[in-house]
Amino acid sequence: MSQPTARHRLDYRPSPYVIDTLNLTVELDDHATLVTAVSSVRRTEADATELVLVGEALELVSVAVDGIPLPGEACRLEQGQLVIPLARERAELTVVTRIDPANNTALEGLYKSEGTFCTQCEAEGFRRITYYLDRPDVLARYTTRIEADRAAYPYLLANGNQVESGELPDGRHFATWVDPFPKPSYLFALVAGDFDLLEDSFTTASGRDVALQLFVDKGQKHRGHHAMASLKRAMKWDEERFNLEYDLDIYMVVAVDFFNMGAMENKGLNVFNSKCVLADSDSATDAEFDRIESIIGHEYFHNWTGNRITCRDWFQLSLKEGLTVFRDQEFSSDLGSRAVNRIEAVKVIRGIQFAEDAGPMAHPIRPDKVIEMNNFYTVTVYDKGAEIIRMLHTLLGEQGFQKGMTLYVARHDGQAVTCDDFVQAMEDASGVDLALFRRWYSQSGTPVLTVTETFDPANCQYRLHFSQHTPATADQAEKLPLHLPIRLELLDQQGRTLAPRVKGRPFDGLFSLTDAEATLVFDGVTAKPIPSLLQEFSAPVKLNFPQSDQERIHLMSYAGNAVARWDAAQGILADALLASLDDRQPAMDAITDAFGRVLRDTELDPALVAQMLTLPSVATLMELRSGCDVLALCRARRQLQADLAVRLGRVMAEAYDRCATAGDAPHRALMNLVLAYLALDGDSGRVTAQFQKAINMTETLGALRAANQALLPQRTQMMSQFEARWRQDPLVMDKYFTQLATTPLAADDLLTQLAEAMNHSAFDISNPNRVRALVGAFADGNPEVFHHPSGVGYRFLTEQLERLNAINPQCAARLITPLIGFKHHTPERQAQMRACLERLMARDDLSTDLYEKVSKSLA
Ligand code: ARG
Ligand code: ZN
Repeated sequence: MSQPTARHRLDYRPSPYVIDTLNLTVELDDHATLVTAVSSVRRTEADATELVLVGEALELVSVAVDGIPLPGEACRLEQGQLVIPLARERAELTVVTRIDPANNTALEGLYKSEGTFCTQCEAEGFRRITYYLDRPDVLARYTTRIEADRAAYPYLLANGNQVESGELPDGRHFATWVDPFPKPSYLFALVAGDFDLLEDSFTTASGRDVALQLFVDKGQKHRGHHAMASLKRAMKWDEERFNLEYDLDIYMVVAVDFFNMGAMENKGLNVFNSKCVLADSDSATDAEFDRIESIIGHEYFHNWTGNRITCRDWFQLSLKEGLTVFRDQEFSSDLGSRAVNRIEAVKVIRGIQFAEDAGPMAHPIRPDKVIEMNNFYTVTVYDKGAEIIRMLHTLLGEQGFQKGMTLYVARHDGQAVTCDDFVQAMEDASGVDLALFRRWYSQSGTPVLTVTETFDPANCQYRLHFSQHTPATADQAEKLPLHLPIRLELLDQQGRTLAPRVKGRPFDGLFSLTDAEATLVFDGVTAKPIPSLLQEFSAPVKLNFPQSDQERIHLMSYAGNAVARWDAAQGILADALLASLDDRQPAMDAITDAFGRVLRDTELDPALVAQMLTLPSVATLMELRSGCDVLALCRARRQLQADLAVRLGRVMAEAYDRCATAGDAPHRALMNLVLAYLALDGDSGRVTAQFQKAINMTETLGALRAANQALLPQRTQMMSQFEARWRQDPLVMDKYFTQLATTPLAADDLLTQLAEAMNHSAFDISNPNRVRALVGAFADGNPEVFHHPSGVGYRFLTEQLERLNAINPQCAARLITPLIGFKHHTPERQAQMRACLERLMARDDLSTDLYEKVSKSLA
């Protein structure tokens, strides 16, 4: 196989030609869709002589320049490129291609999913529709004419406004759409199918009416209302908080079953994975309701941060994704619990992003080198990217940040820009020096922030000494100090917040570390305080500041911030769990007391209590103990769970019974968490009762999960009941598959169960949701079997990757993550995992997606 080549950020050159308008005619057909692309090409480099267009998996039918057909020998087709001699300022170019959407299982470009034609063009899928300047800095006005059979595809949708429609011979019809806003090709979308349509409208702040349309599979309309309501909330919120208004007269959202990611922000025509849009309380959990709201918001917010202002090149992806994740997090936090939203975001960084930074795919939020762009839609670009924006917000304050946003929009509306342009706007608007801060964009890796304290009673001085160090990563050896905003608070022994002075001024709670080391001196401190550091996770770093259980228990009760109280609780649990690996004795009595108090406290938000009592994930713990035996860690984790279940059983049962009558989402969160503990303590009565009396999916699934994790005898009965009820409903069957994959059975039994699941009529290897629900859930959520010493878990995953490599490379590449982090495991495990990776590497048909990850991990 010829080795795929990497592209480098610093090689960016503007395109020598641009395209101002594009007229597409798409004559839909399962295996022979004809695409006619007429573009007005303009030369921007005076001496350019050849226009180079990219294309993939296309059959070229014809090329014409200014209406004159180009003979075959006049243009060249070489390695996915169409080279057209074009030594002039302007030309009208007509390219006709033929494509095969029904056989497009990669789900990139134009494909057919169930009975629906749809597109996914980000990042580089448009080149699978026609030969084009498929790069985000070429912005054109699109007109799209779609033709298809009327009976099978009554709805023909594309970006912008529909301007024409009508009948054609042979039972076909057409519709023409015009998008007035210039856009890059990755934002193009087309959908044709038959749907149920949910309609609503929104009046913008300036009084324009926008038609809202949600297209769902026939019979699914009742599951669309939550998404529609979320969309209206998002539109309102963006006007109120960011002063940004929608700009077209229509906003459409289509739900499709086969989709590689969550959703896509195509201008005026979002395409969603049905999993991320459809929900009713029978079939979806509270967590899924929240996720849908946040994704609907995310795609909507892209209309400004992504569409009106887009990326110059794909290395700048975080320009739109980091910022838009920050915006969707703020949306969820303003509408729901800010603390719980922050906690969920922190868990993603500590559990998944830190691991990415520590593995072979480490990259800065603005990567420097990419083989397959699809591999860079990562937690680093998205979630760490959002943390960088959040730090800017912390440093500038809401007012300064909004001033920066206003300037950014005013300056760059209609342009394709860089991360630097964004930071520059923030700097210019706020006057805050961000020179050092910019390093966050170029440096990968997780800084370790080490803090030591000294108290000087004679002078009433308390000092905190900070030092930062970022360990080398796979992609970058040299690291420099970063600008770290550190939120902190000092508490006295009574739990009161101190108001010390720093350099004669009242301390405002925020310290900026800008060097490798610094000392912060607090005056007027009369007794040794207990510090609460890195409150709200004010910088995405690992904090190294050992505190005793007693100090943490103090913080758990008294820290002025809910996230800090949760963080203290997590610190206690992580430490107790790791203690057993080191043969240390955790202070279990004091810990039990502290968590008992939290459980009894009816003033606290139950959702927050549930978060406090959730043990840190195996992934988070592995980041604290790289190289340890992951199975020993799993055992310690289960042991601590069982201990807490026994010690806190009575309080938990009381909390359960209290929550069970409340009937709202926060109480259900605590109810399910406590039920999982009670099940471990053998309380099968409450589990069965909850399952049988459940009035929504949150309760049903909570009971099912508790029974499976505790291996209660009734679990098989419950599982078959669930399967019988939902067999015909693929989205709900995903939960069933996830339960099967994550049950803590012996390895042999679990693998048999997985094999059976793959033969279930609801399973389909070509549907990414099914694959993630079963195979992904197994690799991420069943560490005991996945990491079984025999290597069966690794081999199972590898077999599935080999199948998916041919079907859907993007899906395969997302699934391989748990295998490529092998260097963090024990030597025996490393050998097993490496053998699997070598087996993949030896294939001559390996996709570029897998090639990039496998080759980097073996390097
Ligand atoms: N831009 C989309 C979103 O964040 C996701 C597109 C993902 N594309 C990909 N090739 N993985 O909303
Ligand atoms: Zn996005």
